[in-house]
Amino acid sequence: MRIHHLSLLSLIFCYCFLIHRMFDITAVSGQIVEDQQQSLLKLKNGLKFNPEKSRKLVTWNQSIDCCEWRGVTCDEEGHVIGLDLSGESINGGLDNSSTLFKLQNLQQLNLAANNLGSEIPSGFNKLKRLTYLNLSHAGFVGQIPIEISYLTWLVTLDISSVSYLYGQPLKLENIDLQMLVQNLTMIRQLYMNGVSVSAQGNEWCNALLQLHNLQELGMSNCNLSGPLDPSLTRLENLSVIRLDQNNLSSSVPETFAEFPNLTILHLSSCGLTGVFPEKIFQVATLSDIDLSFNYHLYGSLPEFPLNGPLRTLVVRDTSFSGAIPDSVNNLRQLSILNLSTCLFNGTLPSSMSRLMELTYLDLSFNNFTGPIPSLNMSNNLMHLDLSHNDLTGAITSVHFEGLRKLVQIDLQYNLLNGSIPSSLFALPLVKTIQLSNNHFQGQLDEFSNTSYLSSIIFLSLSNNSLSGSIPHSLCNNSNLLVLDVSYNQFNGKIPECLAQSDTLVVLNLQHNQFNGSIPDKFPLSCALKTLDLNSNLLRGPIPKSLANCTSLEVLDLGNNQVDDGFPCFLKTISTLRVMVLRGNKFHGHIGCSHTNSTWHMLQIVDVAFNNFSGLLPAKCFKTWKAMMRDEYHDGSKLIRIGSQVLTFGGIYYQDSVTLTRKGLQMKFVNILSILTSVDFSSNNFEGTIPEEIMNFTGLFCLNLSHNALAGQIPSSMGNLKQLQSLDLSSNRFDGEIPSQLASLNFLSYLNLSYNRLVGKIPVGTQLQSFDASSYADNEELCGVPLIKSCGDDGITYGRSRSLQTRPHAIGWNFLSVELGFIFGLGLIIHPLLFRKQWRHWYWKRVDSILCLIFPQLNLEFERHGGQSYIVLRWGL
Ligand SMILES: *[C@@H]1O[C@H](CO)[C@@H](O)[C@H](O)[C@H]1NC(C)=O
Ligand SMILES: *[C@@H]1O[C@H](CO)[C@@H](O)[C@H](O)[C@H]1NC(C)=O
Ligand SMILES: *[C@@H]1O[C@H](CO)[C@@H](O)[C@H](O)[C@H]1NC(C)=O
Ligand SMILES: *[C@@H]1O[C@H](CO)[C@@H](O)[C@H](O)[C@H]1NC(C)=O
Ligand SMILES: *[C@@H]1O[C@H](CO)[C@@H](O)[C@H](O)[C@H]1NC(C)=O
Ligand SMILES: *[C@@H]1O[C@H](CO)[C@@H](O)[C@H](O)[C@H]1NC(C)=O
Ligand SMILES: *[C@@H]1O[C@H](CO)[C@@H](O)[C@H](O)[C@H]1NC(C)=O
Ligand SMILES: *[C@@H]1O[C@H](CO)[C@@H](O)[C@H](O)[C@H]1NC(C)=O
Ligand SMILES: *[C@@H]1O[C@H](CO)[C@@H](O)[C@H](O)[C@H]1NC(C)=O
Ligand SMILES: *[C@@H]1O[C@H](CO)[C@@H](O)[C@H](O)[C@H]1NC(C)=O
Repeated sequence: MRIHHLSLLSLIFCYCFLIHRMFDITAVSGQIVEDQQQSLLKLKNGLKFNPEKSRKLVTWNQSIDCCEWRGVTCDEEGHVIGLDLSGESINGGLDNSSTLFKLQNLQQLNLAANNLGSEIPSGFNKLKRLTYLNLSHAGFVGQIPIEISYLTWLVTLDISSVSYLYGQPLKLENIDLQMLVQNLTMIRQLYMNGVSVSAQGNEWCNALLQLHNLQELGMSNCNLSGPLDPSLTRLENLSVIRLDQNNLSSSVPETFAEFPNLTILHLSSCGLTGVFPEKIFQVATLSDIDLSFNYHLYGSLPEFPLNGPLRTLVVRDTSFSGAIPDSVNNLRQLSILNLSTCLFNGTLPSSMSRLMELTYLDLSFNNFTGPIPSLNMSNNLMHLDLSHNDLTGAITSVHFEGLRKLVQIDLQYNLLNGSIPSSLFALPLVKTIQLSNNHFQGQLDEFSNTSYLSSIIFLSLSNNSLSGSIPHSLCNNSNLLVLDVSYNQFNGKIPECLAQSDTLVVLNLQHNQFNGSIPDKFPLSCALKTLDLNSNLLRGPIPKSLANCTSLEVLDLGNNQVDDGFPCFLKTISTLRVMVLRGNKFHGHIGCSHTNSTWHMLQIVDVAFNNFSGLLPAKCFKTWKAMMRDEYHDGSKLIRIGSQVLTFGGIYYQDSVTLTRKGLQMKFVNILSILTSVDFSSNNFEGTIPEEIMNFTGLFCLNLSHNALAGQIPSSMGNLKQLQSLDLSSNRFDGEIPSQLASLNFLSYLNLSYNRLVGKIPVGTQLQSFDASSYADNEELCGVPLIKSCGDDGITYGRSRSLQTRPHAIGWNFLSVELGFIFGLGLIIHPLLFRKQWRHWYWKRVDSILCLIFPQLNLEFERHGGQSYIVLRWGL
């Protein structure tokens, strides 16, 4: 009974105690929650953010317990221990006095992906319990405060930034890496990509050696110098190493093969040299290696161990050589293999067929030979680029059978032959197919499953030996943007449906045997920017419906039998840049009197070899503004034009136009926005050279030869400062050669022969450096270089051209290939542009092109090892 009493008492006591405790706890935690809630609301009110883009902060309100708010994590007792404000469009309001620093229980803080635009506040040292701090891409700038180094519990620190977006990088200046990390001994993940650390090899390596627990290291683009210290392998927990885009200029130590847990090794664009230790590829844990853009890094691929875990193997743009080993199929998980632009050779091992996880295969720009292994087991393959090799043999319908994810196939510039299997066009997701510059032959079959075809947007079959007609099933394709079948032997009529397309942006049928008339079916919604029908057997007039193609930029009807007057009805196409009517049966006068619209962007006009007659169209010339402005030669403007090219409907295509220069027909694989040219040669034009042409100060080439033009050569021709090629031969020009011609500093081709010029060739000028043939058959012309002297003497002459500096050269063919790749596939590889390594590479290339093109540019034609190059040369 007593016991009972006691128990009852104690029970009551306990009960009371418990009740009391409970009240106590709720009171305390209520207070905490209340305080925290207020702090958080204050924090919210202090922050500047875009409520439309915010998904977390906007939901924070008084009426709900803060532990329930989005982005807030509490422990069981109601303390806020985690705060995730990443991607909230916060653009200010975080300073030393922010109430954020009152949340002293915080263990995890993520402010990533915002736009704060200020320095990192020093208040972080108050958040002593932080184990996870993510400030990556938060928009912080300037010096990293020492206070970060007080956070000794940190396990994860991510302060990566994209400095070039904000102008000012995050940097370590007053403190160095050593000071920043010396007390962060718990750290396992350290990401500082893009932070300007500026340290020498032994400095940053030594600093890191203190971090015994380090597992993941991200220090890409940190201004680190080399060498890579072999002692780094003492960090035996390291599993991720990302050091891309640092100027390490060193070799990779063999000891890197000793990391017991290495899974990711990224060292792209590091200026690495020497021979890369093969053993590293064989590290038993390594799944992802990227050594790209280390142009002077040598090495070869080793035999791969059975069941190797490699998923990503990227060595593009290095000096790696040798063959792909048969054992590549041991890499059962290989997903990305990129060996592009190296020195690899040999045949592709048939064992590659067993790489079932491949998604991305790029072996382009190597010297691989032999046949292409079947890839029909690589069910996940999306991107295939084997272009620019010496691959031979046929591709069969089996090769790519069933690759339902394949988006891109690039096999151009190889030696492939046989016919093109129509099954290729039936892959359900394929968007681009590039088979140009091979030896494919035979006819294209109609494709059976036409519904599939609708995914192709880019089809290039140029420079093969294909014949027959264009399959009708191509026309069922509602997505096709670019069709290039140029340089083949296709024949028959141009399918009407191609003209009817309202998606096609580029239609290139040049150098085939298409006959009949051009279909008069261009719809109101015509999207064409390039129509190239050069060198076919087309007859009849230019179809009137072509006027519907109001975005047209390039119209090339050259070398056909088109029989028409000058196409004034196309005046409504104000976007026209290139008009080539050369070598047809055009006739009548040029000039359009009844229209107000103009071709103000026109930069290449070629109407040579027709039967045009009458006066040169002076009034027309007045409206060709693009020819007039020097601004096209101003570097800054050029970039603007360059970006116009970039936005070329989202897709750019290499136009090729043949121009006659230096008496040679040259093919310009790519038309620069700055190239301007007027060719009216071999017609029946009469009258004088209109003064209006002398306003074409941007003109590179002027050819009026083989007409019946007369009068004097205007002295104002000296205005055409950019002129590189001038041909007035075989006309009836008389009078003297104006001395002003001597001021055309870039003139490298001059032909005044077969005229009625008289007098002395201007003495002591570069005009005397041209060959005598430039002046032949002008009976009354005398002086050097002609044999006939003028009677007076004492002339000094020489071949001292004013501009004889050592030219620099870039291979234009190579560049245009790159441009074609960049712009041409812009649509498809767009997401890839966001991968830094790609972007880096692209912009390096594009920049160097744009910066290097100057008005002095001079185009030359060269052949190297069977390839034709158009080389740009300019004096400096
Ligand atoms: C608070 O948030 C809740 C849920 O997001 C919402 O239903 C409520 O209307 C909000 N209250 C106020 C006062 O904004
Ligand atoms: C924070 O305070 C420190 C001094 O404690 C000062 O140097 C720094 O500029 C302040 N930072 C900001 C962002 O206000
Ligand atoms: C930091 O946050 C960003 C955005 O949420 C995330 O992508 C990144 O992986 C985080 N970094 C670490 C080391 O967790
Ligand atoms: C690191 O810790 C040591 C010892 O605890 C201390 O003396 C030193 O000031 C700390 N340094 C930094 C930069 O936090
Ligand atoms: C390697 O990683 C595994 C799993 O991530 C881990 O269990 C092991 O302890 C690590 N070994 C070393 C030496 O870091
Ligand atoms: C690749 O082939 C080209 C032409 O066949 C040759 O000029 C070049 O030297 C070769 N390169 C290598 C590394 O074998
Ligand atoms: C690959 O290139 C190397 C070096 O240029 C050469 O020695 C070797 O014979 C080539 N191998 C094949 C299969 O062409
Ligand atoms: C434009 O297309 C429409 C529809 O095809 C056609 O009727 C019309 O004649 C075309 N316009 C011109 C100017 O040819
Ligand atoms: C050309 O412009 C003038 C005045 O701007 C206008 O009167 C005339 O109708 C226009 N002619 C055509 C063909 O558009
Ligand atoms: C050449 O251009 C100038 C300035 O634009 C203009 O004033 C002049 O009339 C033009 N000359 C001819 C012949 O069109």
